[in-house]
Amino acid sequence: MSQDTKRLLAILTAQPVVPVVAVDSAAQGVLLARALIAGGIGSIEVTLRTPAGLEAIAAIAAEVPEMVCGAGTILTPKQFEQAEKAGAEFIVSPGATVEILDAARNSDVPLLPGSATPSEMMAMLQEGYEVLKFFPAEQVGGAALLKSIAPVIPQIKFCPTGGISMKNVGDYLKLPNVLCVGGSWLAPKDKVAAGDWDAISALAAEASGLRDAA
Ligand code: 3PG
Repeated sequence: MSQDTKRLLAILTAQPVVPVVAVDSAAQGVLLARALIAGGIGSIEVTLRTPAGLEAIAAIAAEVPEMVCGAGTILTPKQFEQAEKAGAEFIVSPGATVEILDAARNSDVPLLPGSATPSEMMAMLQEGYEVLKFFPAEQVGGAALLKSIAPVIPQIKFCPTGGISMKNVGDYLKLPNVLCVGGSWLAPKDKVAAGDWDAISALAAEASGLRDAA
């Protein structure tokens, strides 16, 4: 097992849900990270879907060192490099391209590449990836698809994301090939914008207790 795989396993098994967030400023990212930590969530994926994503990653890495901060929605090698420079501890991509895999090969920061079909999963396994994102989970077949993959490609463990909420998270967490799920429901846009950090800590606390309930 590669060092990158070991590192990803450590990050993704530390809590049942990794929040996928988009923030409007570095300061907002820091406050959000603190609220999630208060609710027992110790890793976060800050997406580059907003212009503030990179500076938020840098600010969280500097000011909330107890939070394992990853970068999400990485589509290009340039973004990979920028996220690494900002201090991202893991990189998440919705899929995988030759260019992204090359960038990962030249970096010490582990990549969690996205996959949605058996062929994509087999291709990633061939590249040495045993931990994958499964995206967009609900839209491509959900927990039922992952369940049918488990006996066929048992080497691969997944972090499914896309359309997951408290309503269906249990269907995923009970599968043998699911390490954790990703989701934006822990950081709803309206609550982040309003600075309702207590509500976000409460959502995080509910999610961090899920493994015991599953
Ligand atoms: C992701 O990037 O992983 C997803 O967009 C998160 O999906 P969600 O917003 O449906 O939770």
